[in-house]
Amino acid sequence: MAVITMSQPRNILITGASSGIGAALAVELARRGDRLWLGARRVDKLDGIVAAITAAGGVATAVSMDVSDAAACARAVMAIDDAHPLDVVVANAGVGGRGLRVFDIDIEDAAEVVATNFTGAMATILPVLPRMKSRGRGHIVGVSSMAADLSQPAAPVYGATKAAFTFFLDSIAPDLAKAGIATTIVHPGFVKSEMTDRNQFDMPFIVDTATAARDIADAIDGKRSWLRFPWPIRLSMALATWLPRNWRAALVDKTTKLR
Ligand SMILES: NC(=O)c1ccc[n+]([C@@H]2O[C@H](COP(=O)([O-])OP(=O)(O)OC[C@H]3O[C@@H](n4cnc5c(N)ncnc54)[C@H](OP(=O)(O)O)[C@@H]3O)[C@@H](O)[C@H]2O)c1
Repeated sequence: MAVITMSQPRNILITGASSGIGAALAVELARRGDRLWLGARRVDKLDGIVAAITAAGGVATAVSMDVSDAAACARAVMAIDDAHPLDVVVANAGVGGRGLRVFDIDIEDAAEVVATNFTGAMATILPVLPRMKSRGRGHIVGVSSMAADLSQPAAPVYGATKAAFTFFLDSIAPDLAKAGIATTIVHPGFVKSEMTDRNQFDMPFIVDTATAARDIADAIDGKRSWLRFPWPIRLSMALATWLPRNWRAALVDKTTKLR
């Protein structure tokens, strides 16, 4: 007799789900049958995404969350986990800041980028780890950036926060694996979103959010350790890391020159 195994829907929290990559990933994972908790500050936007998912037969709940308030973020994550033990946590919330070059960096802007992209990401992940450890399973997904792969004079603070987040995830992955918790580090190239709509330069190999969401959902389903996409920019970045620093900076400057 054939044995049919039905996979259980996973409980998944996605931060930064009110727009862009996070919203598209929510729609994609709901379409694949998972139960979603969607966190962000703009609850009206979250409500619209929840309504679209529900209308399509999916299951999603909006959660008001500001990840830059670490204590409040941790409380919100634990409240979800208390009622619905989380199988997957996707730390996706992020801000680009004002993208200022070194002599113009404003420390308050820089502090907000750090509080969201790095401290906020840790505040999203850390509260669930002891719980996942005691359950002997779980999956942490960090949406970092290809900006972490290459120093860039045009976005030193943003790149530094993403490099810090990637370094953190890569550092904790071995201990998490021993506890049965998978880790996926995501380095997107350019994806069309509210964040990149502000960019005043041409973005090579830019992809839409639905394409990004499918790639990320596939990586989550496959419990891949790393995902870098799309491949042409991945290859370009890998080659650029071999260049001397000044050449690399000149190349990055040329690529991100204002339109
Ligand atoms: N687009 C790209 O080319 C690209 C490339 C590499 C990496 N990424 C990364 O992908 C992630 C998603 O970015 P995106 O491109 O989709 O941009 P986006 O459309 O601007 O989305 C950013 C999301 O983060 C949320 N967010 C920002 N600050 C938050 C806070 N303090 N608390 C909770 N949520 C917060 C926003 O929601 P609220 O404003 O409603 O809070 C929004 O849902 C970011 O981490 C970004 O760095 C993007």
